[in-house]
Amino acid sequence: MILVTGGAGYIGSHTVRELRDRGMDCVVYDNLVTGHIEAVGDVPFVKGDIFDKELLLKTFAEYKVDSVVHFAAYSQVGESMAHPAKYYRNNVAGTLSLLDAMLEGGVKYLVFSSSAATYGESGEGLITEDSPQRPTSVYGQTKLMMEQFMADFDRAYGMRYVALRYFNAAGAHKSGEIGEAHDPESHLIPVILQAALGVRDHIGIYGDDYPTRDGTCIRDYIHITDLADAHIRALEYLKNGGKSTHYNLGNGNGFSVKEVIETARRVTGRAIPARVEGRRPGDPATLVASSEKIKRELGWDPQYDSLEEIVASAWKWHSAHPHGYAK
Ligand code: UFG
Repeated sequence: MILVTGGAGYIGSHTVRELRDRGMDCVVYDNLVTGHIEAVGDVPFVKGDIFDKELLLKTFAEYKVDSVVHFAAYSQVGESMAHPAKYYRNNVAGTLSLLDAMLEGGVKYLVFSSSAATYGESGEGLITEDSPQRPTSVYGQTKLMMEQFMADFDRAYGMRYVALRYFNAAGAHKSGEIGEAHDPESHLIPVILQAALGVRDHIGIYGDDYPTRDGTCIRDYIHITDLADAHIRALEYLKNGGKSTHYNLGNGNGFSVKEVIETARRVTGRAIPARVEGRRPGDPATLVASSEKIKRELGWDPQYDSLEEIVASAWKWHSAHPHGYAK
């Protein structure tokens, strides 16, 4: 049985859907602070916090948990710069609490949400797993510290893990039933689509003076279902005796903020007013992945390889749920 922390969140809920569709048993563990119960679907759910070791141990025993997919974390780069304590407490101390409980409960396998934000400023080339990790944000720093814990827990206690370094998760499930909904929303594609829907009056472009082709930040957008598939491959790899490792997950194509807005205008057929605003602290200019390692080693093969398709799947969700999940 797989325990999914943060399974009511954006990436967690899409992974749970994929696990369920493939007949793999899982239980969602989420405190619902940022997650949505409506996103969980038809799988066992435990409302709980990763700081609650007793409840974690009880859940491990009750469901005979042998592996954990750990999504539970705060994930907004801008907020992490304004409220570092909140991020260190929840992401770093929270993960330590989860690892302690796993150790005590004899749970040996962990697939973990790391991030491209652990690399920081990288220059023009593609980022590989061996690129230097120098985070520019507190959020990225917390993810790097979490990776370091896991390496030490493996060395000392033999707890095996795969850290998946996502680039920019985007899009929604093909059913249109679950999608991206943060409150407040700060991620680029949802914000653009809210502007397309008139839920907000414009999209603010955070800086057009970066050293990129049009001055706006370049990111690698990867579809949420492709991310979900990578988690399942990573779990199978660990259960087949694979060693602890790290994988990047991206498409290998970078798009600037302006290019994403243009794509959304084409996909939605709406005008989408945009205004250049100041830079957001913590943003590196360019983050684009090489994902050759996971393709080679685990046969990962992302199905959504165009930004149009990714934005179109997000639009299907947003146009049907302009205010996200029902409160
Ligand atoms: N941006 C805008 N206007 C907005 C929102 C975003 O111009 O209203 C810009 C940002 O400055 C950035 C780009 O669009 O350059 C993408 O921003 P997001 O907030 O969508 O994503 P980030 O790249 O900051 O971060 C995301 C996730 C992190 C993850 C990271 C990895 O939020 O969890 O990708 O690159 F770690």
